[in-house]
Amino acid sequence: PLETRSLPLDLRCYNGFWVPERILRAIPDIHAGFETRPSDIFLASSPKSGTTWLKALAFTTLNRATYSPFDAGHPLRRCNPHDCAKFIEVHFDGVKDELEAIPSPRVLSTHLPYSMLPERVTGEDSGCRIVYICRNPKDVLVSGWLHFKKVSPKSVMGVQSFTLQEAFELFCQGRSLNGPQWQHVLQYWEESLRRPNKVLFLKYEEILCEPVVNLKKLAKFMGCAFEEEEEKGGVVDAIVELCSLPTLKDMEVNKSGHNYLTKNDGFFRKGVIGDWRNHLTPDMAEKLDKIVEEALQGSGLSFANDL
Ligand code: A3P
Repeated sequence: PLETRSLPLDLRCYNGFWVPERILRAIPDIHAGFETRPSDIFLASSPKSGTTWLKALAFTTLNRATYSPFDAGHPLRRCNPHDCAKFIEVHFDGVKDELEAIPSPRVLSTHLPYSMLPERVTGEDSGCRIVYICRNPKDVLVSGWLHFKKVSPKSVMGVQSFTLQEAFELFCQGRSLNGPQWQHVLQYWEESLRRPNKVLFLKYEEILCEPVVNLKKLAKFMGCAFEEEEEKGGVVDAIVELCSLPTLKDMEVNKSGHNYLTKNDGFFRKGVIGDWRNHLTPDMAEKLDKIVEEALQGSGLSFANDL
């Protein structure tokens, strides 16, 4: 049942998650009408967890036979990663033809919690695979707060923007975009343990520390493992380099362009681990840590806070 309490951010609580009302309204249509293909790759994340980066990495890796990462005309040099892997829940709203026009294998994406995905995506015999990227909640909170201040300085989805303290309190209550963030992560985590061939679980912090190892894992999972010859030829390194924050941030398209969601430059900031230390007080950090620790108890999952 849909709780009707309205909130800042236009979020509604549905089955334990705070989802934008507009997206909630689109969910029945997505479930009824979205056609998957067995070759589809779904990139899933809670917002501000490295979605843009994962989109770049997955798209470039999966399509490297068509678009070489060495190519000066590579799509990532002309388009923002969000145009290469579109959100099904944003895009489905009236423009599903655009998703259907994408040639196979498609890289699609979603911020929906696992429990809200269509059966056509999660089903045993659907064939499609899901890659999840998680990030430690304190960096997610800070990244999100700064993002919305930048892309929408006067309002966050129609309401006055919050102070960091207000955003923090809401985040701790789970009232963030598709939050509670840690429950979003937990659902995918549990599914990745249950069905490792269906759901690959990656951590932002680990990709940052070991990009090559994680990129190879991603390629193998997507069914396009790197050949020895490709590795020797520098393909893996070239993809890592092409998709790195400094490279993408410096591209003209990402400095001045728009993607179908917003301005491109809003998606590239610092890209480091632990920037929360520059924004949250020790008390705030402790409070959030406690909430998250309790929620994760017994799951076997921990967030990489202090790498
Ligand atoms: P910061 O705000 O901490 O810098 P999302 O893509 O899910 O919206 O997440 C955005 C966060 O990922 C931002 O974090 C952004 O700077 C970072 N990011 C974007 N592209 C990246 C890349 N290529 N490599 C590493 N981090 C990246």
